Amino acid sequence: MNELLHQTVQDAKETLVADRRWLHSHAEISFQEKETTAWLCAQLEKIEGLTISRPTATGAVATLSTGRPGPVVAFRADIDALQMTEATGLPFASKNPNAMHSCGHDGHAAVLLNSARILAGMRDELRGEARFIFQHAEEVPPGGAAEMVQAGVVDGVEEVYGLHFTSSLPTGRFGVRSGVLTSATDRFDITVKGKGGHSAIPQECVDPVVIGAQIVLALQGIISRRLDPSQVAVLSICQVSGGSAYNIIPHTIQLTGSVRTFDKTVRENVRLWIEETARGIAQAQKGDIDFGYSYGYGCVVNDPALTEAASDVIRGVFGPQAVVAIGPQMPGEDFCHFHEKCPGFFVEVGAASEEKGITAPHHNPHYQLDEDALPLAVEYVTNLLRSRLKR
Ligand code: NI
Repeated sequence: MNELLHQTVQDAKETLVADRRWLHSHAEISFQEKETTAWLCAQLEKIEGLTISRPTATGAVATLSTGRPGPVVAFRADIDALQMTEATGLPFASKNPNAMHSCGHDGHAAVLLNSARILAGMRDELRGEARFIFQHAEEVPPGGAAEMVQAGVVDGVEEVYGLHFTSSLPTGRFGVRSGVLTSATDRFDITVKGKGGHSAIPQECVDPVVIGAQIVLALQGIISRRLDPSQVAVLSICQVSGGSAYNIIPHTIQLTGSVRTFDKTVRENVRLWIEETARGIAQAQKGDIDFGYSYGYGCVVNDPALTEAASDVIRGVFGPQAVVAIGPQMPGEDFCHFHEKCPGFFVEVGAASEEKGITAPHHNPHYQLDEDALPLAVEYVTNLLRSRLKR
């Protein structure tokens, strides 16, 4: 542990918590983070040594150039909230009725802002360049990451890092995984096409409700019967809609669902199997389907060498018990777009506390972040970037 850096982070704790609370109370949903971005830029502009840019309508990038040759390393924080009403009753709860930081992105942004402040203060001992990426719209595909990468924010970057607070680990623990970390998240839309008519004369109709019910059950067989048992995928049908009256067989119904996978071949196969299963069932009963499939975020894949380097930093700062080996995570992440351009590492930072009653899951109206995790995350980010920019 670097004592000086540890003390600097401790001294920054009050500001850090205040920053996070400001962001929390001003929650804005994906692609609408106007006030959030303006506030972040205003704070970043006060920090000597940073150059601020606005490559997209919302979101910002702060660059710390040391003037000395060395690596170019980026750290990304997402800044958007979710479309839901907060129910925590906290004094700094969201002022915006239909927006809540229920995924902890307010914490991510505050951590990166304070890390930038600390690292800018020690720029005389660093080499190369650090880029602090405040990314908009992580929650809603196509997401802000693709837009930012398109705008060139990782051009010339040699390593990119990111983090996510998690209610699955207690404060003080860092969830680490080399290789595939998060799932690819896709959506499918099936329109079951039949022939509508009178409920009392089914023989003259093709009932899409009955066909749809069979499709719903048959699709579950894809995971249990067609997928190699050593592979993993999730398939959920979450929206079923159709019909207008109790005695009218409708013409069509809609089934919408999501697929999560960790492997490119599995992803392609599951897409294919959904379509052929649904179409086969429909056609066997003189119906048919329209099939739509939207590819969402790809998998986040951690670079083995960077995983090792970051794990060493965590062990060095917090002790060996702080590193927890975790399995693949089902929630998707658009951080994948950044590491398509250069090696990357993404860590899950524990922010749950049983004794404080902070255990609600993400995306829940009662979600809370243990604020004691904030300085730990800043200490991680600053130590990590310091170690990468000293080589
Ligand atoms: Ni999130």
